[in-house]
Order: sequence, then structure tokens, then C-alpha cells
Amino acid sequence: MTEGDLAIVDRSFRRLVSQGEDFGVLFYDTLFRSYPELRSLFPGDMQQQQVRLVQMLRQLIDSAHAPADMPGLAGLARRHVEIGIRPEYFSMFGQALFESFAAALDGDFTPEVRAAWERAYTRIAGALMRAMSGRASG
Ligand code: HEM
Repeated sequence: MTEGDLAIVDRSFRRLVSQGEDFGVLFYDTLFRSYPELRSLFPGDMQQQQVRLVQMLRQLIDSAHAPADMPGLAGLARRHVEIGIRPEYFSMFGQALFESFAAALDGDFTPEVRAAWERAYTRIAGALMRAMSGRASG
């Protein structure tokens, strides 16, 4: 992750958040349309899920430069294990994320923006998956 990547993901994050609930609706619609088997993992109401999505993206951006040092990583990993998140869900989740980014950001989701998000997501997902499988950071 370069400073340039961070600036790029931060800018698009602000744009997504400014769309309020619309982006949350779009993301979960995309996720559950592509992967209906994930629906039951998210029993909360839409507003709760929206808040968690924003939390998740914020955490992703804030920790992308040093994923293994993410505050609360161990607890977050434990929580994901408890609710039944499996390693293979990460690529599904990432795919739905980028598909909804493309729709929400329209022409602003350039290949450069996509690549920066993919680097950030891959790093955090890797750290979280390693913590979930009980291995030390890497
Ligand atoms: C980079 C990867 C991820 C990050 C940074 C992340 C982050 C978070 C955060 C910050 C929370 C809120 C924790 C809390 O409420 O205490 C959360 C909850 C949750 N995450 Fe993740 N997450 C990631 C990947 C995933 C994936 C791949 C799935 C499943 C497809 C998933 C499913 C959930 C669910 C079901 C909850 C709880 C929602 C609820 O309690 O209703 N997460 N995640």
C-alpha cells in the first residue's frame, strides 16, 4: 500500500459514505443476489448492517498500511469465527464489494481505483484470515 493508494481509497470511501443507505442497500443486494447462502449470516436490520459496513471499510482503510497491527484484530477474528465466517467467503465478499463499488462510483471506479482497493482488501483479509486460523501475524 502506497500513500497514493491510501488517498485513492479514502476519497472513494467518502463518496460511498455520502450516498448514505443507498450504498449499503446496493452492496447487500449484490452480495445476496450472487451468494444467497450468505444471507443468514446477516440477521441484523438494514440500518445495523449499514453501520457495520461503514465500520468495516473504515477499518480496512485505516489498517491497510499495517494489517497485522490492526487494533482489535484478535477480537475481530474471534467474532468472525463465532458467527461462522469461512475463508472462502472472503473472495465472495470482496467480489460483491467491488461490483457494488463499480455501480456506486460509476466512472470514478477506474482500474487504478480498483487496484488500490484490491490491494487494501487483500492485505486486511489476509491478516484477518491468518488471525482466524490462529496463526501469528504475517
Ligand atoms: C477484510 C475483511 C473484513 C473486515 C475488515 C471485517 C470487519 C468487520 C467489522 C469491523 C465488524 C463489526 C464487528 C462487531 O460488530 O463487533 C464485522 C462484522 C461482521 N462481519 Fe466482517 N469483516 C470482514 C470480512 C467479512 C466477511 C468475508 C464476511 C462474510 C461473508 C463478514 C461477515 C460479517 C458479519 C456477518 C458480521 C456481523 C454482523 C452482525 O453482527 O450482524 N465479514 N466485520
